[in-house]
Amino acid sequence: MEPSSRREFLKSAAALTAGTSLLATTTSAASSAKTFPAQFPRTLGPNTAKYVQEVLASGLAATDTMVARFEGEFAKHLGVKHCIATPGCTPALAALASALEFEPGDEIVVSPITDYGTIQGIIRENFIPVFADAAAGTVNLSAETIEPCITDRTRAILCVHMTGLTCDMDPIMQLAEKRRLLVCEDVCQGPFGRYKGRLNGTLGHVAAFSFDKEKSMPSDTGGCVVTNDDRLAERVRTIGVARGVEGNRPNFGRIHRYPGYSYRMSGCTAAICLAQLEVVEQQVAHRDKMLRLMSKLVAEIPGITPLPIPEFATVYSPWMYSFSIAPGQFRCSADEFAKQLEAAGIPGAGTARYYLPAAGCSFLAENASAKKYPYSQPPASRDYHYGTESCPRAWQFLQTWIRWATFCEKYTEEHCQLVQEIVAAVAAKNRRT
Ligand SMILES: Cc1ncc(COP(=O)(O)O)c(C=O)c1O
Repeated sequence: MEPSSRREFLKSAAALTAGTSLLATTTSAASSAKTFPAQFPRTLGPNTAKYVQEVLASGLAATDTMVARFEGEFAKHLGVKHCIATPGCTPALAALASALEFEPGDEIVVSPITDYGTIQGIIRENFIPVFADAAAGTVNLSAETIEPCITDRTRAILCVHMTGLTCDMDPIMQLAEKRRLLVCEDVCQGPFGRYKGRLNGTLGHVAAFSFDKEKSMPSDTGGCVVTNDDRLAERVRTIGVARGVEGNRPNFGRIHRYPGYSYRMSGCTAAICLAQLEVVEQQVAHRDKMLRLMSKLVAEIPGITPLPIPEFATVYSPWMYSFSIAPGQFRCSADEFAKQLEAAGIPGAGTARYYLPAAGCSFLAENASAKKYPYSQPPASRDYHYGTESCPRAWQFLQTWIRWATFCEKYTEEHCQLVQEIVAAVAAKNRRT
């Protein structure tokens, strides 16, 4: 919708709700913003060109040193011992999975709502994902939803800080300690967010990040694994990045001790990541501020519930903005509501049922029901079922959940107000009388 027709739409929606004080308030103090900031160009750190030029001017000789420099700086920013740079988070988690000393058929409890990239590595290593349900009223799992999934074959928990909202990690770590499980964090959507003051990615035993161009610390692509565990770090580097080469045999040459991968970050990507590191925390602080403001404004609209921000999320590093609609209050579905938001000017507004991998990755149900390897291992293994019924609460949540990627490093208060105006207008248009 063109900005001028959107104004008309907002006006007519205001007329529809004449008498409701909220919309009257918002329209009389109408936002001076007319459109939202475009996704690109992303805001890059001031030293980006300088660092990329260092790699180019060296005739690529500085490739490895630039990667090592980024790894060192990222580890320092997080306060962890090791950072291993990769070409993305999917490869980071694949490199991590390749380094885990588990057996095929071992189980990993995974967040119910996430991207395919979270599970690709564990599937390829023939580990079995078991999806925990979402905690009530939110996108993330919790210690309570993880516990019933744990069996004698469970080896790890893979927590995704979905939308950038940190999972409630202290109870998860207590449970993991009790059951002797490894805890991995997928921090793709929430770099430099904080849980009770502690940084995302330092809360479990190991974590993976994304520096995809659309994410909150954007490079052209990129990712990494971070950990304080020396042995795990060494294995991720050797098996995930260095093609399984552990050294040279005299009079022979290199020996591939493991069937390893070559998930290396490029020097130019590392240069961009290094420059982004200089601005990311400031940008995240701004995102946090904008998201909280947006949530406060949107929460004023009857029937709309922003994704709750618990007190433990001391810095919310949002990649998405999201809210749920109360189905009984509107004549339309969440999909139709989202479509109208997009038409009214919120780019990318939509529902996200595909974020339920238990249903979205059809090969899981097929392989499990056909008892294809690793579902055949060992013979005493239990039955596995995948589908929307695997995580009923998460599935239910997704029916009314609307979200869009927010480029709120560029948002101003006026953009937050514009979000409120548009959501209020769409809500008014569709409200049951
Ligand atoms: C939660 C989550 N995990 C993993 C990935 C994969 O990241 P990448 O694109 O860097 O491979 C994504 C990408 O959107 C994601 O959102």
